[in-house]
Amino acid sequence: MHTMSEIFQTFTARVLPADLQFDVEGELTLLEAAEMSRVQLPSSCRNGTCRTCLCQLVSGNVRYTVEWPGLSAEEKAEGFVLPCVAQPTSDVVLDHPLAKAA
Ligand code: FES
Repeated sequence: MHTMSEIFQTFTARVLPADLQFDVEGELTLLEAAEMSRVQLPSSCRNGTCRTCLCQLVSGNVRYTVEWPGLSAEEKAEGFVLPCVAQPTSDVVLDHPLAKAA
């Protein structure tokens, strides 16, 4: 059971080096929230397998909407994330050289 505050929690995501910022509300993934804010991140499969969206998490934490996102344990440990299936659990900063304003 989610509490109301969990459902409506909003976090801020910042994307370097372009220094774009967007809000992530509720259960949105980082990719969905970016698109709603007209921030373009590369994507293809949108289900955590193709790795097109792969980028570095500079700070903050995420959880995944799928059990086995296409990331190795080593990559996770090195701070790589897949924004199409990642939901922030704190404010986050991503490093994604291909991100741009749509
Ligand atoms: S878009 Fe395919 S893994 Fe994210």
